[in-house]
Formats: sequence, C-alpha cells, structure tokens
Amino acid sequence: MNATDPATNSCESGKSAADLPDYEAELMAFHRAFGRELRRAVRAIPINPGDRVLDVPCGDGFYTVALARRLYPFGRVTAADLSAAYLETARRAVARHPAAAVVDFATADAYRLPFDDDTFDLVWCAQSLISLDNPVVALNEMRRVTRPGGAVAVMEDDEFHRVMMNWPVALELDLQRAVAEAARVKYGSRAGLSPARGLRRDMIDAGLSPAWKQTVAADRQAPFDPAVRAYLRIRLRQTRDFVAAYLSADQLAVLDRAIDPGDEQSLLRRPDAELTCLTTLFLARK
Ligand SMILES: C[S@@+](CC[C@H](N)C(=O)[O-])C[C@H]1O[C@@H](n2cnc3c(N)ncnc32)[C@H](O)[C@@H]1O
Repeated sequence: MNATDPATNSCESGKSAADLPDYEAELMAFHRAFGRELRRAVRAIPINPGDRVLDVPCGDGFYTVALARRLYPFGRVTAADLSAAYLETARRAVARHPAAAVVDFATADAYRLPFDDDTFDLVWCAQSLISLDNPVVALNEMRRVTRPGGAVAVMEDDEFHRVMMNWPVALELDLQRAVAEAARVKYGSRAGLSPARGLRRDMIDAGLSPAWKQTVAADRQAPFDPAVRAYLRIRLRQTRDFVAAYLSADQLAVLDRAIDPGDEQSLLRRPDAELTCLTTLFLARK
C-alpha cells in the first residue's frame, strides 16, 4: 500500500504522519468511510464483560476503541504494535473515548508476543497479515497467548473483492488481471494481496480450530459522503499506481478517466455510481 494524500494525511490526533507508514492515509480513510459496519463487526465477536482482549497490531487504535467500548466497564484491552508512532496514535484515540474499558499499551512484535501463555480471552488482529511475511507464525503466537477455549478473531481482505464498483466490465476484468500480475511480481504470488483467501488454511496450520466466518459488507450509493469520497480518491489512486505497469496505454487511459475527480464521468462524480466494500471476519477457537 502506498497511498499518500495531503488532503487526508493530516489527523485530528495531531500525530506525526512522517513516522507512520505510507498506507496510514488509506487506513484512516477506510475507518472513517466504513466505521459503522466495522464497529458492527466488532459487536459480533463473542466477548463478555470482564474479558481480557489483545488487539495486535493495533495500528491507529480504531478497533482498540471499539473493543474497549464493548468491554466497558469491567474488561481490559491490551493494544500492541511494533510501531511507536502507531502506539502513540492509538493512545490518543483511546483518550478521546472515556466510556471505555481499561486499555494498556505494549510495544510488541507479532512474531514474539511479550505475554504469557493463555493470557487473553480473545485476540483480535485486523488487516495486518499483509504486513506480516509469515502469517502462520504470527497466528501461532496469537494462539499461544489465548486461553484454552478462547478465540482468535482475524479481519482480512481479498483484493479481488475488496472494493466493487459499477464500472465497465471490460475495465474491471483488465484491472483484476493487472492486480494479479502486479501482486505476483511484488509478493511472489497472484494471491499476495488476498490474505483472506488463505486464512482458513493458515489458522488450521497455526493449530487453531476455525469456528465461523462473516462477510462484512458496506454498500454506498452516489452522492457519496465526504468520507467515502476521501477513501475512494486514495484507494483508486493507489490501485492505479499499483497496476499501471501492467495495463496497456489504452487501458490506463480508461482507468485514469474513470478515477479522475475532475471528470464528471468519473466514478467519484457519476450520479449512478455505487460501491460495495467487502472484508471478512474469521473466528477460530483455541
Ligand atoms: C495495516 S496496519 C493495521 C492496523 C490495525 N489492525 C487496523 O486495522 O487499523 C498494520 C499494522 O501492523 C503493524 N506491524 C507490522 N509488522 C509488525 C510486527 N512484526 N509486529 C507487530 N506489529 C507489526 C504496523 O505497525 C501497523 O500498525
């Protein structure tokens, strides 16, 4: 992910964007655009008052807050990340929500979690396996720190089904092929941007027992609200840059027109535009 957008890269938390990864702008825009559905997904996971939950990696703390609000007032959330800048961002996000369970913060490598065996009732891991070269090792660590009978919940994407729009079929097919090729070159696999596709297998390989899977779908229609427009601008630009080398000049010209916010026929401005954003929540038991 390599989106940067000066319009959205500033943040109400006052964090230093320079210390955060390039995908920060997209991630924050994603949380803002689809927060309602993402929070609903958090409400679907089985946790009880008094539970102890680990959010790893916590990133900007969006899910830490959602989990802490669910556990209020008795539970406890540990927000862990390798990035000091993200931990600071998460700390500020939590501070803005007083009606939340106790949250503590930990600098932690997902491959070597600094927690005892069987510590947590639930481990939550959202949209991070793409950042972890070896998801099975990380999932195995999550399993280790989960108590017997507890759960590991993982939210992940499949690039091919992530943002679906009612754009021309020919453009969609060209894009899918180009995404697969770009992923093969960058990640060594055409499924390199589709961690959700292998997640069930990865969970089993990590010694977990998959219990259920839920698709989190967010539908939006034109006119898109500012948060969705901001997300789409970043997202479409990022996709364009990722696949540009794998499209012909004609295909790229069609794509550029479809995503140009200055063009009335672009997907950002057409009155008939619609989108569905999909992500997947997997729950496995220890
Ligand atoms: C795409 S972000 C997702 C963050 C958060 N779960 C969310 O959905 O907003 C990926 C996160 O993984 C963290 N990360 C990358 N490698 C890590 C590692 N080895 N151990 C712990 N965190 C790591 C990054 O700092 C970043 O916060």
